[in-house]
Amino acid sequence: MSKSKSQEAIEREHRYGAHNYDPIPVVIERGEGVFVWDVQGKKYYDFLSAYSALNQGHCHPKIMKAFMEQAQKLTLTSRAFYNDCLGEFEEFITKFFGYDKVLPMNTGVEGVETALKLCRKWAYQKKGILADKAKIIVCGGNFHGRTITVVGFSCDADAKNDFGPYTQGFISIPYNNIDALEKAIEDANVAGFLVEPIQGEAGVIVPDEGYIAKAYKLCKAKNVLFIADEIQTGLGRTGKMLCCDHENVHPHILILGKALSGGTIPVSAVLADDEIMLCIKPGEHGSTYGGNPLAAKVSIAALEVLRDEHLPENAERLGKILLNELKSIKHDMIQLVRGKGLFCAMVIKAPPPPKGGSSRVTSLSAESPSFGGGGEASPSGGRGAIDVCLALKENGLLAKPTHKDIIRFAPPLIITEEQLMECIGIIKRTIASF
Ligand SMILES: Cc1ncc(COP(=O)(O)O)c(C=O)c1O
Repeated sequence: MSKSKSQEAIEREHRYGAHNYDPIPVVIERGEGVFVWDVQGKKYYDFLSAYSALNQGHCHPKIMKAFMEQAQKLTLTSRAFYNDCLGEFEEFITKFFGYDKVLPMNTGVEGVETALKLCRKWAYQKKGILADKAKIIVCGGNFHGRTITVVGFSCDADAKNDFGPYTQGFISIPYNNIDALEKAIEDANVAGFLVEPIQGEAGVIVPDEGYIAKAYKLCKAKNVLFIADEIQTGLGRTGKMLCCDHENVHPHILILGKALSGGTIPVSAVLADDEIMLCIKPGEHGSTYGGNPLAAKVSIAALEVLRDEHLPENAERLGKILLNELKSIKHDMIQLVRGKGLFCAMVIKAPPPPKGGSSRVTSLSAESPSFGGGGEASPSGGRGAIDVCLALKENGLLAKPTHKDIIRFAPPLIITEEQLMECIGIIKRTIASF
């Protein structure tokens, strides 16, 4: 029997690509708005939105227009020269978010690295910390990307193990714990506090109301920079343009990425005022592609779409419906549901361990034939988060577990109420089938 197009594509990736991801067995060929189509022509709701890089939906016409127009004119000049787009983007984004300056990069983790470097420069040049003594506080359960420095202060064994030695100068405290911050910040060498206003990869961990505002206040009182990683939570996802807006906090350093380019090319940005940003001088930091004209034009369009189509407001309104509906599902597999805006998670209870087997919910190993392309149910009872996601896929909705037992639901913010209700129907029917 000849192989399906999907099988062929999956096997090819598996054969020639590094095994650093373990995708759901669906091969996507086309995307438009909230939908994607696989190579067999089957249509799905995209409920992951490329980890919130597609807040504006797939191939948004306005963003694509900006992309196509600029792509035919000028894509890259390097920062050895000026280009006629970067200044326009810089003015636009700084006014949009209320900062003096922006430093554009590409991937999210480069934005994080930039913020950390900026914080250290500021520590030595402005705060007066002695050379090489600066410390930055981070939170347990964080996810800020994949560089050696950043995985060095992760507590996720998969992200961290066997990548040492790690970068020094970070203090990890429990997330959502003001007392821990209050204690750690007493150290006069602390220069910054890096935090996700909601921890996305950890499983949409929403801190207590007031945590972000209290943390910001503490930082301000101690002359410590409050650095918000809004790469996943920002740009409308949680029902405000920035998640920090829920608590009226204006971070000293703001990191954006993902949806900043509406899912086209990697664009990240770090925003700060002159007092901080001008600590970095020519030659001290940069990136070949950072601030390229294509990124500049696409990002302006991506931000305009968020603003003009009121996507944060849509996320706020529809997010309430999504959360309430998910909470209303009664099933013994569901441990809990949480979220804010169109950023929700369902925690699936660990199934009982198979007789004589391991107690893991499922094997997500890239070496496992089940997940290298077969898409069969998990080996441990068929009731794990991965099994729910595989069933959702069959029913036309794409989502993927994070941390093996948590399903994140994060559709594009352009989703309509009617579409959302259809998706909720799919989720309800799928859960009921277990
Ligand atoms: C909060 C947060 N920070 C940083 C990153 C890293 O972004 P990138 O994968 O573009 O490097 C991510 C990616 O998921 C993220 O969610």
